[in-house]
Amino acid sequence: MCGIICYLGDRPSLPILLNGLRRLEYRGYDSSGVAVAVNEKIHCRKAVGKISDLAGLLGDKPWTGWGGIAHTRWATHGVPSPENAHPHGDCRDRIFVVHNGIIENYRQLREELRDKGHRFRSSTDSEVLAHLIEEYYRGDLEDAVNSALQRVDGTYGIGVISAGNPSQIVVARLGSPLILGIRDREIFAASDAAALMSHTREVAYLHDGEVALLKPGSYRIRTLSGMPMNRSVQTLDWDMSSAEKRGYPHFMLKEVHEQPEVVGEAIRGRLIEAEGLAKLGGVERVWSRLRNMRRLIILACGTSYYAGLLGRYVIESCTNYPVDVDLASEFQYRKLNLQARTAVLAISQSGETADILAVVREVKRRGALSLGLVNVVGSTVARLTDAGIYNHAGPEISVASTKVFVSQIAILYLVGLLLGRHQQMSLSEGQEFVHELRALPGRMRSMLARAPAIEEIARRYARHRNLLYLGRRFSYPVAMEGALKMKEVSYLHAEGYAAGEMKHGPLALVDESFPTVCLAPRDSVYRKMIGNIQEIKSRKGPVIAVGTEGDTHLAELADDLIEIPQCGEMFTPFLSVIALQLLAYYVARERGCDIDRPRNLAKSVTVQ
Ligand code: AGP
Ligand code: GLU
Repeated sequence: MCGIICYLGDRPSLPILLNGLRRLEYRGYDSSGVAVAVNEKIHCRKAVGKISDLAGLLGDKPWTGWGGIAHTRWATHGVPSPENAHPHGDCRDRIFVVHNGIIENYRQLREELRDKGHRFRSSTDSEVLAHLIEEYYRGDLEDAVNSALQRVDGTYGIGVISAGNPSQIVVARLGSPLILGIRDREIFAASDAAALMSHTREVAYLHDGEVALLKPGSYRIRTLSGMPMNRSVQTLDWDMSSAEKRGYPHFMLKEVHEQPEVVGEAIRGRLIEAEGLAKLGGVERVWSRLRNMRRLIILACGTSYYAGLLGRYVIESCTNYPVDVDLASEFQYRKLNLQARTAVLAISQSGETADILAVVREVKRRGALSLGLVNVVGSTVARLTDAGIYNHAGPEISVASTKVFVSQIAILYLVGLLLGRHQQMSLSEGQEFVHELRALPGRMRSMLARAPAIEEIARRYARHRNLLYLGRRFSYPVAMEGALKMKEVSYLHAEGYAAGEMKHGPLALVDESFPTVCLAPRDSVYRKMIGNIQEIKSRKGPVIAVGTEGDTHLAELADDLIEIPQCGEMFTPFLSVIALQLLAYYVARERGCDIDRPRNLAKSVTVQ
């Protein structure tokens, strides 16, 4: 979950490493550190807090080293402290390691190494790597890393530098991403393309079980068993400006405002208006298996899971396929008959979420068709699955996902249309569907223009401690996602519920100090939602309603109303989710929270 950046080349490495860390800070941000090789010595500094704290500590250190490794941490073992921050050194500070992941057998290894006289300075699992490499080091760093990794159980993305071989860095991965970047006489390695893009777009992906020896301007990849691997260089086509705030106070607000364009990008070139059809190039290869499937299982975590939940309602409305949605973390405990006529769609922004990777591997092993819906190009899910679709939403920097959610749902709607039109969906229904999708960016823009009214409402509710979110049918997953956004960025306790469940328990919570956000657009479940709102009002509960513009009845009933533009019933989530994202954002801002980097979280969750 942490960020790793390594550099070797003909420029001083420290500024490059610090800038790389700033780009990666969204991945983990409790502490950070850097190690640079200078004249056959390794200098290392670590700090708790933000990268700016580390930069402050380094001041203008005249470290002129041309190679180094750096890390921003998301602690799994040991509190955030300078000792536990990476890089971790061996006993003589000759070998330094940065690590992303978890070493599961670290206790045994630590015992064994202690018995051999190694002195440990941190309480992390990662430190054993430095000592294990030291134990095997006979002058060749690559060999030593290779031998050490044979002893390790768990997951890792690592970067290793040594005083003995200062013009080499060794990197390796198993279950955590690592990308190599190449430019003239320079070489980079990072856990995330975001750290490389300002230097180079020429990249090569390291695969699980591989070790790469990096030298200025070149790399050599081998498997852990020593087999040489050829890896071609690919060109990244992400627009770097999406990783800048461009005048917005936070990435989250900027990304919320990018959503009309992101939806436009998700549907671009994927609709045939006259025929009311969708086309998804990424699944053409597996089309006959897909259309002949007996059922679809969608697997995801967090926000991507809520996108999947909405996908189920949409795909089931358009087709006859039964759709199951499950949390990737729970799916592994279910006994299911996964045969060739089951298709599994894994949804993941990062494409690196550990729970997703585990289930995708299992699904493949059992012969089901595996599909990915992924934002990060070249990520592990994208590479593991039989076929897939990219979001093309650009880098999402805020830890709380917003723009990728709308992009995920836009693509799930395309999947619904694609499959539906090969079943019973009529031409005119298909054309109407295409028309609604095309109208979305404009409607989303007018939704965003209502931000000041939402800001005003947020101010009034920012001091509450609890919030309930209710919705039915297409609005139910939106209620869940809205509550998650509120929890993540404002630290308020917020719960998303199916409105029909209200009477089965949560209604007991309602009193004048317990507000409920009710999603009540004018749709097929509107009357039932109005009934729910009335029940809440009878118990004096404050209600913030999200409803269709011009709904005077709802305006009278609710304490506050956020209006969404008119649109087809199935398409309201694109608009109502904006209301809930902005509500969460403004409440968090009012409460002075660190919006882009909520406490305890990290952008991609690479541990189970
Ligand atoms: C979203 O706001 C969250 N930070 C989180 O729930 C996220 O959606 C989840 O970790 C899944 O990530 P992924 O899409 O990269 O797999
Ligand atoms: N398990 C390691 C630690 O706790 C690495 C954490 C990370 O990936 O940032 O230090």
